[in-house]
Amino acid sequence: MSVVAAKELEDDAKKYASEAIRLDSQGAHGMAIQMYQKAISTLVKLVHLYPDYRLNKQYTERAMAYQERVKAIQAAHGLLPRDEPQEAAFAPEGPPQQTSSPNGPKGPQVVQQLKASFSELVITEKPDVKWDDVVGLEDCKQAIRESIVFPFLRPDLFKLGWPRGILLYGPPGCGKTMVAAATAAEIDGYFISVDAASIMSKWLGEGERNVAKLFANARKMLSDNKPVIIFVDEIDSLLGTRGQEVGGEVRVRDQFLRETDGINDKGKNLHLYVIGATNKPWALDPPFLRRFSKRILVPLPGNEARMSQFRMYTAPITLAEDVHLEGLAKLSEGYSGSDIKDICQGVQLRVVRELFSSGKALEKETQTRPISMSDFKEVMRTRRPSVSPDMERAYANWSNNFSAL
Ligand SMILES: Nc1ncnc2c1ncn2[C@@H]1O[C@H](COP(=O)(O)OP(=O)(O)OP(=O)(O)O)[C@@H](O)[C@H]1O
Ligand SMILES: [Mg+2]
Repeated sequence: MSVVAAKELEDDAKKYASEAIRLDSQGAHGMAIQMYQKAISTLVKLVHLYPDYRLNKQYTERAMAYQERVKAIQAAHGLLPRDEPQEAAFAPEGPPQQTSSPNGPKGPQVVQQLKASFSELVITEKPDVKWDDVVGLEDCKQAIRESIVFPFLRPDLFKLGWPRGILLYGPPGCGKTMVAAATAAEIDGYFISVDAASIMSKWLGEGERNVAKLFANARKMLSDNKPVIIFVDEIDSLLGTRGQEVGGEVRVRDQFLRETDGINDKGKNLHLYVIGATNKPWALDPPFLRRFSKRILVPLPGNEARMSQFRMYTAPITLAEDVHLEGLAKLSEGYSGSDIKDICQGVQLRVVRELFSSGKALEKETQTRPISMSDFKEVMRTRRPSVSPDMERAYANWSNNFSAL
């Protein structure tokens, strides 16, 4: 066979797979599926063109893992399966199996290459979010300042050490990810952001090895004498069962515990912090929780915060006389920050749609009409809060038992 041609296909498959994983981790499910399917068909082609190739068993396993992932995404997001010609390629008879001896070369290339893409999922760039962009959440900001900024400025004052683990928990869309991002902008240090679901993706290799890699990278960065924050979003997935072989999640969790203990013991004077975020705090078990000595609720916005959010999101749009922020805040009780953003986008879309249906949108300098209170009411009528009162109570209950400021 032509090694060069096989290598080319392999490279293509790798490229598609990394792109798929990136899109997947960003929640772009439709595009991720397309990319997984490209990766699958490339691997299938490879196996069919070179039936005797010693890596075929691995290629097949990879392709099947991607296929499983595609199915999982489709099931979770109600996406209809597409025609999958590659599915047929893995029908019962399956592709040719590995023919080389078991003593053949270890560390199949494809697997190695796919593992390399783990580093692509870890974002070390500073996010473009400022502390002031985060509305409200004063307790939370203060706690982070005290736990990370103060110890860095005056470590000598912290005779008993300082907390290394901070857990942000609360209903979806209230600013957990945003607060973590703003923390990164606030400090002059490194920010490593990774979501737990991608640590667990089995096509990135063993989850526990990914965790070890994550911490090893962080320790390396510490040599610059700057604080390093590891931010693990959706941290509950580390303990979860999502798409993981049985038992795998236990090893990942244990590895995580070991690594965080490493910071607390050997690294007493190191400025390495772990911020975890979750909207399922009850999924975390006691040993895990113990590592997060600060546990901070990021709650639904109160009246004041909703007002500020409306002020922020309506600033660029033209409002009618009858719109008052107090009124909007009152109407939107129970809505999250992310709901409020959606509502503002919704009213904006309403008037844009109107302009387009009037046929005048393409005329020069025509503008949308000012947005009135009734537009907001109409949008809110059809868009209920994404957090139910029951859910809110569940967070409050959990807080009563486990919060640690
Ligand atoms: N406190 C806030 N201040 C300003 N904007 C907010 C706030 N909370 C939410 N938002 C808006 O909602 C979006 C989603 O917030 P974010 O991703 O931080 O929520 P989250 O708590 O991490 O949610 P999830 O649990 O679903 O991950 C933000 O990008 C922002 O536009
Ligand atoms: Mg989030």
